Formats: sequence, structure tokens, C-alpha cells
Amino acid sequence: MTVITVALGDRSYPVVIEAGVLDHAGEHVSPLAGGRRVVIVADANVRPHLATLERSMHAAGIETEAVIVPAGEGAKSWASLEALCGRLLELGVERGDHVIALGGGVIGDLVGFASAILKRGTRFVQIPTTLLAQVDSSVGGKTGINTRAGKNLIGAFHQPSLVLIDPDVLGTLPARELRAGYAEVLKYGLIDDPDFFGWCEANGAALLAGDPTARAHAIAHSVAAKARIVAADEHETTGVRALLNLGHTFGHALEAEAGFDGTLLHGEAVAAGCALAFRYSVRRGLCPTEDAERVAGHLRAVGLPGGLGDITASGARLVDHMRHDKKASGGVLPFLLARGIGRTFLDRTVDLVDVAAFLDEEPRRCPTA
Ligand SMILES: NC(=O)c1ccc[n+]([C@@H]2O[C@H](COP(=O)([O-])OP(=O)(O)OC[C@H]3O[C@@H](n4cnc5c(N)ncnc54)[C@H](O)[C@@H]3O)[C@@H](O)[C@H]2O)c1
Ligand SMILES: [Zn+2]
Repeated sequence: MTVITVALGDRSYPVVIEAGVLDHAGEHVSPLAGGRRVVIVADANVRPHLATLERSMHAAGIETEAVIVPAGEGAKSWASLEALCGRLLELGVERGDHVIALGGGVIGDLVGFASAILKRGTRFVQIPTTLLAQVDSSVGGKTGINTRAGKNLIGAFHQPSLVLIDPDVLGTLPARELRAGYAEVLKYGLIDDPDFFGWCEANGAALLAGDPTARAHAIAHSVAAKARIVAADEHETTGVRALLNLGHTFGHALEAEAGFDGTLLHGEAVAAGCALAFRYSVRRGLCPTEDAERVAGHLRAVGLPGGLGDITASGARLVDHMRHDKKASGGVLPFLLARGIGRTFLDRTVDLVDVAAFLDEEPRRCPTA
């Protein structure tokens, strides 16, 4: 068992990582539940894991109530939030009570936000079931929903009380979702940890094939990195937490263009976005070509996109999507660029016209394998 603390003073919490921990979840949740019934929110695709969780809660003497939310990004909506809050109120959830989010980033973001606003703040536990949620979204307290104007534009910082990560639940995750989550793993290497990127090059394929040792190492290493960054800059005010957005400005433009309909998963867009950020850094004379080639090479080797792929939109159109990015302020869009692998920094001087020209020169169909 690995326990990593997210150190945030009186809002600190442990992230427990252990294969099979879902079978013992009741023991971990019991001290928080204080004898009260616990509501578990899950989506239909994690029903087998819900059954395990319920069994372990009952074995620890905790009563449960399950709420099933439709699977998919569409659940991060006003309508789902309203329905979920209504149901939690009907179930009599009180301020000190804990709600459990069992699912991927969608469930975690939705339940976390509902918990932030219900009765001006209830408590919640994250039990992430996708690789993306285990290495990224379940830690750090960003919660929220999407609106017609864009993704994650409505939300709150609300830290969970506990995160329980069971790598074994990834056994039921579709391979494509696992691979997309892996983009957020290797991102930590690209940001400031070249040795970890080297580890990814050597072990990424084994991790994706289900090797439990590689999986556990990648999750613990990623969570430790995220916990460090969140502790240093919880509300993204100093620029440290912004480093986690590597690949996301380019990536969000690709996601917006693809239409959030599952054609391009978030992690796939982030993978392509990281490759583009490195190649753009080369164009700016910041980064050695070999480093950008190493990044794209590893992405291709594991079957992730290393460029624009099937996106045919013009550079100007993609840059237009970027202008709507919530990180834009006063007409300036900060970009994460790199001086090399593990040497990412925030650049506030990027000219979007130049970015559009760069994107126009990018090959439009980059082989993924
Ligand atoms: N809060 C943050 O800091 C943060 C960070 C990164 C991403 N996000 C958000 O996370 C969301 C994406 O998360 P995601 O990739 O986990 O998507 P997701 O929650 O939609 O899960 C992906 C798919 O896998 C299914 N699934 C989940 N666990 C499963 C399992 N163990 N077995 C079988 N199927 C399973 C889900 O039902 C869904 O169909 C986005 O909305 C993104 O904005 C938030
Ligand atoms: Zn992401």
C-alpha cells in the first residue's frame, strides 16, 4: 500500500493506492462516515465495482444508497447537476456527510461540484476508476461541469476527504480509455521529470498491456507529482499548477474541433497537444528537435496521436478555439512551452498568429502506430 498526502493544512487528505483496496474501502471510509449512511454516485459502466464497494461498506457496518448517473461527458451538465443535487437532498445528505464518487473524471468532477454546493458544502470521497482519474482528476480538488460555452467553465475548488485508488479496477476499462489516460501519466515526465519520461519510454507498453507493477509505479509516481504541484499552488495562482496544462491548450482546440463526441478522447487530444507544444517550441528556437522527436516517437509507439491526425481545420480556426480558453486573460493566452523534455515553462508572449501559421504547416494525418 502506498499513501501519499496532499498537504493543504487543515484540508490535507490521504491518497491510498493499493491493488484490491476496493474490497477494504469500508474500513477506510468508516472513520469518516461516523455511523451515517453514505451515498455512492456511480455511472452504469462501473456497476461491477459498485457491487464490490457496497459489499465492503456493508461489511464495515456502513449503510449505503447508490445513485446511478448516465455514463459519458454529457453528465457534466446543469441538468445532471440539478438531478443529482435533488436526489442527494431527497436522501437527506447533511453537511458533514460524505458522498462517494465512484467512476472516471466525469463522475468525480460532477459529484465533487455537487458536494461543494450542496448545503454550502458537504464532504466527498473519490474512488477513481479510469487511469486518467487515478493519476490526475481525482487529486487536487478541481470540480465542475460543462456549459454550451465550453468545458469546465462552471465549477469550484473543493478538496475530497480521501482518495482511494485500486489499480485492479482498470482491468475492465476499455483499452482506448486506458491509453488516453496514459497521456496524462507521461505528461508528468515531460513537465519536470525527464527520468520519469525515460521510465515511460521503457515501461509504457507494459503498463498498457496490464503489467501490475508498472501500473502501480506509474500511478504512485503521478499522484506524488500532482500532490506536490497542488500543495504548492492549490488555486492556480502562482503558475506552478498551470504546468499541469501542458498539451492542453493545443489539445482543447483539437477537442473543440472534434466536437466532444468521443471521436477524440481528452487524453488523445492531450497527447497530440504535447507533441504540438514540443514542435512549436522547436519552431521558436527553444527546444532541441531531438526532444520533440522523442516525444512524438513515444506517443506513436504506444498508439497515441502525435499530431493533428484527422483534424483538417485551418490554423486560424484552431486558434479561434484557443481564444475561448478559460486561461485567456486580457487578450493574452499563456502557453506551456518546453526547453526540452522535463523543462516546461509558462510563456505569456506567444503570438497566436504565429501559432496559426505553425498549425497550417503541420502534417494533417500523423500515423499513430
Ligand atoms: N478535475 C480535474 O482536475 C480534471 C483533470 C483532468 C480531467 N478532468 C475531467 O475528467 C473527465 C474525463 O475523465 P475520464 O477520462 O475518466 O472520463 P469518464 O469519466 O467519462 O470515463 C471514461 C469512460 O470509461 C467508463 N469507465 C470508467 N471507469 C471504468 C472501469 N473501471 N471499467 C469500465 N469502464 C469504465 C466511463 O463510464 C466512461 O464511459 C473530463 O470531463 C475532464 O474535464 C478533470
Ligand atoms: Zn487533462
